Amino acid sequence: MNTKPYAESCDRNREPILAVLQRYLGGAGSALEIGSGTGQHAVYFAREMPWLRWQASDHRDHLPGIRQWLEEAALPNTPPAIELQAVVGASPGLQPLPMLPQAEGETGFDAIFTANTLHIMGWDNVQALFAGLPALMAPDAVFIAYGPFNYGGTFTSDSNQHFDGWLKARDPRSGIRDFEAVDALAHAQGLTLRDDVAMPANNRMLIWQRLRA
Ligand SMILES: C[S@@+](CC[C@H](N)C(=O)[O-])C[C@H]1O[C@@H](n2cnc3c(N)ncnc32)[C@H](O)[C@@H]1O
Repeated sequence: MNTKPYAESCDRNREPILAVLQRYLGGAGSALEIGSGTGQHAVYFAREMPWLRWQASDHRDHLPGIRQWLEEAALPNTPPAIELQAVVGASPGLQPLPMLPQAEGETGFDAIFTANTLHIMGWDNVQALFAGLPALMAPDAVFIAYGPFNYGGTFTSDSNQHFDGWLKARDPRSGIRDFEAVDALAHAQGLTLRDDVAMPANNRMLIWQRLRA
């Protein structure tokens, strides 16, 4: 039998992330997670927020591992993980387009969450991710991103600078993103920053809201 994929970082950061998620997702019915990785976060957040339907997603290579976590936990609010990627091309966005949840006549997820992905994918993929958000978000939905960010073009810690060097040596397209550049992408998609929360280990949690026109 295959061992489940495991990331120690998920055990370290899940409680502080949950505390922030609970502030924003108390009234939400559905959440889409982009780049679920191992699937550990999906199981933990779905168990701790049973009122939510938590939709995990990632590249197809990650789906068997996520499935192992979800099947073992057997929670009622975790549908099977779906393939979803931020892709660049003729129409940059999130593909393949998932089935959208439907509540009270409105279509789209109440929340989209992503952890530790924006510094992994290339900047053109980050742009594609933001371009793909509106099609998947309910009118008042939030988009929440967890990870390290730079401010004013500066690293917030020596460890983040070291991490950025390590990321770029592994893949020159990766790197810690500038908060201002990411916030500009959000604005261009009609999202307004609601909060920027300092997290342990020099990470941030950025919360944007899509406001009804
Ligand atoms: C460092 S892992 C983080 C996994 C998990 N969210 C966590 O916090 O442990 C980065 C994740 O981003 C995903 N990813 C990379 N490029 C992506 C893209 N273009 N679209 C969606 N996800 C992507 C990877 O497949 C991987 O699961």
